[in-house]
Amino acid sequence: MKPYHVDDVLITPRQLSQRVDELAHEMAAGIHSDNLVVIGILRGSFIFLADLVRWCSMNDVHPRIDFMIMESYGSGTKPFQEPQVSRDCSIDVTDADVVVVDDILDTGRTLKKAVAHLKAKGARTVRTCVLLDKPARRIVPCQADYCGFTIPDEFVVGYGLDYDGRYRELPHIAKVTFIEPTS
Ligand code: IMP
Ligand code: MG
Repeated sequence: MKPYHVDDVLITPRQLSQRVDELAHEMAAGIHSDNLVVIGILRGSFIFLADLVRWCSMNDVHPRIDFMIMESYGSGTKPFQEPQVSRDCSIDVTDADVVVVDDILDTGRTLKKAVAHLKAKGARTVRTCVLLDKPARRIVPCQADYCGFTIPDEFVVGYGLDYDGRYRELPHIAKVTFIEPTS
C-alpha cells in the first residue's frame, strides 16, 4: 500500500451537523408517507444515518429503519467489481416509500444497484440520500434526491467513510493524501 497521511479536514463536525439538520428538514418537507422506510447501506452510512434519523425525529418523521450491506471495494481506493447486496434488509418494503442512505456517491454503481434492488422488492417509491457527492467520478448516470456536500475528486475518510477499514470514527471528513515515492 502506498504511504499516505490523513490530516486535512475537508468538512468540520459543525458543518456536518448543520447540513445533516438541513437535509432532515428537506426530507420532512418533501416526503409525506405513512409507510416510510430508511435503509442505510453499510458500512459507510452508519454515522450519517444515525444523525439524520435523530434530526428526522425532531421534524416529527418516524421511519422504520433497516440496513443492507453492499460490497464492491477491495483494500484500496478503486472498486474491483460490480457492487453486490451481500446482506439484504429484513424489513418488508412492499408498497413502502423508501429512502436509501449512503455515505458517498462516487461512480454511481452502488446507489443505482441499491435502487433497482429495492424497486424489485416492491417498494412504492425509492429516493436516495447521500452525505457526499463526487460528480467527477461518475460512470453510471445517477443523481441523489438529497445530497449533503459536493466534493472534488479526492479520497476522503471519516464520519463513517473508511480507507482500508480505518478512520470511520473520525468526527469530521478528512482528505487522504497519498505520498508519491521520490527517487
Ligand atoms: P460507487 O458505487 O462507486 O458510487 O461507490 C460508492 C461506495 O464507494 C461508497 O459507499 C463508499 O463505500 C465507497 N467510496 C467511494 N469514494 C470513497 C471515498 O472517497 N472514501 C471512502 N469510500 C469511498
Ligand atoms: Mg466503503
